[in-house]
Amino acid sequence: MLLAPVIPDFDSLLARVLDDRPHKASSIHGPDHWRRVAEGGLLICEQTPSANPLLVFLFALFHDCRRENDGGDRHHGPRAASYARSLNGSLLLLPDPALDALAEACHGHTRGLVHPDPTIGACWDADRLDLWRARITPHPRFFSTEAARHPGLLHRFRYQPEAPSWPELAVHTATLLP
Ligand SMILES: [Fe+2]
Ligand SMILES: [Fe+2]
Repeated sequence: MLLAPVIPDFDSLLARVLDDRPHKASSIHGPDHWRRVAEGGLLICEQTPSANPLLVFLFALFHDCRRENDGGDRHHGPRAASYARSLNGSLLLLPDPALDALAEACHGHTRGLVHPDPTIGACWDADRLDLWRARITPHPRFFSTEAARHPGLLHRFRYQPEAPSWPELAVHTATLLP
């Protein structure tokens, strides 16, 4: 696996996250959404060289994995941050600063904010790019990165296209790593 220094066994990590998630019947916050967030985030990273594609990939996997329902579950971001931290040292091997950034991205993604850090901004923008699925048109004003405002990206997820598979997304991530 190309992401091995940080993710020793992605299949095991994915299986664990899928198995542990409390709301397995989620219609709009489940794994199809996670993969679209990963795809959108990686496309943002292609145009935002200072963003960290590996953290964006991991944000996509974790950010909604602790939702308990599809409604106003206000604390699922903090729970996702704690959950990611709980796996570090086993299924994840992130150094502390990167783990803190991933946790901050997960923790704050529900609050409707923008962020000056390019990685966290890319994470939140990627989540917003898939608002179409909830019949909400993403508004460019609420994007943190310039890349997300590009009309081609803004409209990419309008009809909820099938996102690439996790292995394809992992390869895409690896191609963007320094
Ligand atoms: Fe969320
Ligand atoms: Fe999300």
